[in-house]
Parts: sequence; C-alpha cells; structure tokens
Amino acid sequence: MSDEVLLELRDVRKWFPVGQSVFDTFMGREPDNVRAVDGVSFGVPHGKVYGLAGESGSGKSTTGRLAVRLLEPTSGQVLFDGNDITMLSKEDMRSHRREMQVIFQDPFASLNPRMTLGEGIAHGLRIHNLTGSRAETRERVMDIMHRVGLTPPGTFYNRYPHQISGGQRQRVVIARALVLQPKFIVADEPIAMTDASVRAVLLDLMIQLKEDFDLTYLFITHDLATAKYICDTIAIMYLGRIVESGPLTQVYTNPQHPYTEALLAAVPVPDPRHRRDKPMPHGEIPNSINPPPGCAFHPRCPKAMDICRVQSPPLEQLDQASQVPPDQGHYTACWLYSDPEG
Ligand SMILES: Nc1ncnc2c1ncn2[C@@H]1O[C@H](COP(=O)(O)OP(=O)(O)OP(=O)(O)O)[C@@H](O)[C@H]1O
Ligand SMILES: [Mg+2]
Repeated sequence: MSDEVLLELRDVRKWFPVGQSVFDTFMGREPDNVRAVDGVSFGVPHGKVYGLAGESGSGKSTTGRLAVRLLEPTSGQVLFDGNDITMLSKEDMRSHRREMQVIFQDPFASLNPRMTLGEGIAHGLRIHNLTGSRAETRERVMDIMHRVGLTPPGTFYNRYPHQISGGQRQRVVIARALVLQPKFIVADEPIAMTDASVRAVLLDLMIQLKEDFDLTYLFITHDLATAKYICDTIAIMYLGRIVESGPLTQVYTNPQHPYTEALLAAVPVPDPRHRRDKPMPHGEIPNSINPPPGCAFHPRCPKAMDICRVQSPPLEQLDQASQVPPDQGHYTACWLYSDPEG
C-alpha cells in the first residue's frame, strides 16, 4: 500500500472562541473566533513526508494537533487509514493513539524530569498496556535506545533528562514515540530548539527511522531549508489556509503564489547544516480574529487585484491539464490562476 493515503484532512476548521465577556454574553453577542485553521484539506501518502510551512501563527501546530485528534475540529473530517477518527469514541480512539505519535519542539518540556530515560520510554508502553515482564520491557527500551543512537543504551538508561544534551533529549523523545510502534508521526518543529550542529544529524536520523519502521510523517517547520531537506511534499500555510502545495522541488523551483515567492526570496534555502536563523519576510501579518476579506494575503501582496480584496480564491490544481494525478499535483489558491466565473 505504498501510495495509499494514510492520513487525510477534509475541509477541517478549528476556530477558537476568544474574549467573550459576561457583558457580551448578556447582550447576546456572538463570540469572536480565532480562525486558527480555516478549511484545510490534504492527504499524506503512506511512507512519505508531508511538510507544513508558513510564518508563526499560520495554523501549522493546530493542524498537526487536529491530525491526531489532540484537538477536536470545529468542522471537517480527519481520516486515518480510511476511518474518520473525529467520530470515534474515546475507547476506539485509544488504539489509534498508539499509532499516531507527536514529537514536539521542546524535548525538555516533553520529558518528565523525575523519570530516568529508560523509565520515561517504558512509561508509554505501560500506558498502552504493552509491557511484558520487567526484563522484556527493559530489553525493548534498550533496543529502541540503540536504534535512535543512544548508545550504548546501558549508559543512558538510568540517567535523567537534565544529564544529557539537547540533541540526545530529542532522541529520547523520538525513542519514546517509536517504542509504541506507530504508523504516523507528527513532528512539530522537532529540531528548532536543538543546536545548529546537530540539526542535520537529527534529520538524517528521522529519515533513517522512517525507512526502518515504515513511518509516515507530517513534518511542521517554519524553516524552508529544513523542509527542503526532509519533505516530499510541501504545503505553505497563511492565516489558517493552505495557499500553495505540491511536490517540494516543484514548489521550490517554480513557486506560484506571491506569498510562497516572497518566503523563498527572503529566505535563501541552503543546506540546513550551514543555515542561520533568518526572519520570515516583514509586513503585517493580519489578525486571524478578523482576517481581511477576500484573499487574506492581499494587504501584503504586490500583485493584488480588485477581486483579491473581496473574494477568497479556491485552492486549485495548476497542472491538471497536463494529466498530473491529483495527489501529485501542484496547487495554489490565488486569483492570478483562477477564473472567478469558475
Ligand atoms: N488554544 C488556543 N486558543 C486561542 N487561540 C489559539 C489557540 N491555539 C492557537 N491559537 C491561535 O491560532 C493561530 C494559529 O496558531 P498555531 O499555533 O497553530 O500556529 P503555528 O503556525 O504553529 O505558529 P508557530 O510557528 O508560532 O508555532 C494563532 O493565531 C494562535 O494564536
Ligand atoms: Mg507551531
């Protein structure tokens, strides 16, 4: 099932109500909403790395949490292995929880400071009732430590999170996820807080583990060089929507949306080994409580036309005419390429 879609989001929204005072409620006012994710659809094929990129606040992490149902969507469907997981009961969700793991940005915050590394990794096995005898559990933990490069595992097993380096801590977090034998991993900025010197090594490790364990990744990053290194497909998000997506090389060499063009122009995409932290392009990122009407990017867009100020453009496949299959297509949501008459 190499080309089958393992995870799919269909028109998913997540609006967070904000700032409702008692007086507002009394007056019968509708709460304002942060439209963190506002109609996102994509599929992640089995065995691939699907990237979500975009500036801070564009809705990447919220999308990642929705994908594994750490958040309930306001509307839309999330399909894992063909099942809509948003409809599952708590009980039925439990087995999927094990199959869908998340690796967060800050390994220190992810680890319990009072558990040894070995205990911390075994803890997940215990939660999911996957432990055997003490010796078996220890062996499984040691084995996974070895696989993620915490070697020799015996020297790490009884140490505590504060006694190892940041890069090693992220390896522990990865081991803790992998010991549960997941199929799908959301990696939310997994190398953003580690030393520049170990970033490429950790990415290489994640690529290797993907092969070894037959994994599929949703890889979240604000850094286009990191995305270039690991992703097969990339989706660029802006204010809760995907504005462009497609095979990574296609999007990087031939960006279509003015936002993607601006991102790529402002952030040259070198090898992540030699990267420096560079800010995303300047300009006001509008408020996602009251996003601009029409295309949310139009206030910053050098190519904005009249229609962009009033009507939101649909995400459309650009290479449909050249018979590119929809799952390998290059998409953008921009009036430069769409006909408002439909
Ligand atoms: N629990 C919440 N309640 C209210 N607003 C939220 C909540 N979680 C996220 N948001 C808002 O939703 C929007 C998207 O947030 P999200 O964390 O998904 O963005 P992001 O792309 O991951 O950003 P970053 O690059 O900074 O991690 C932001 O405006 C954020 O403030
Ligand atoms: Mg985030």
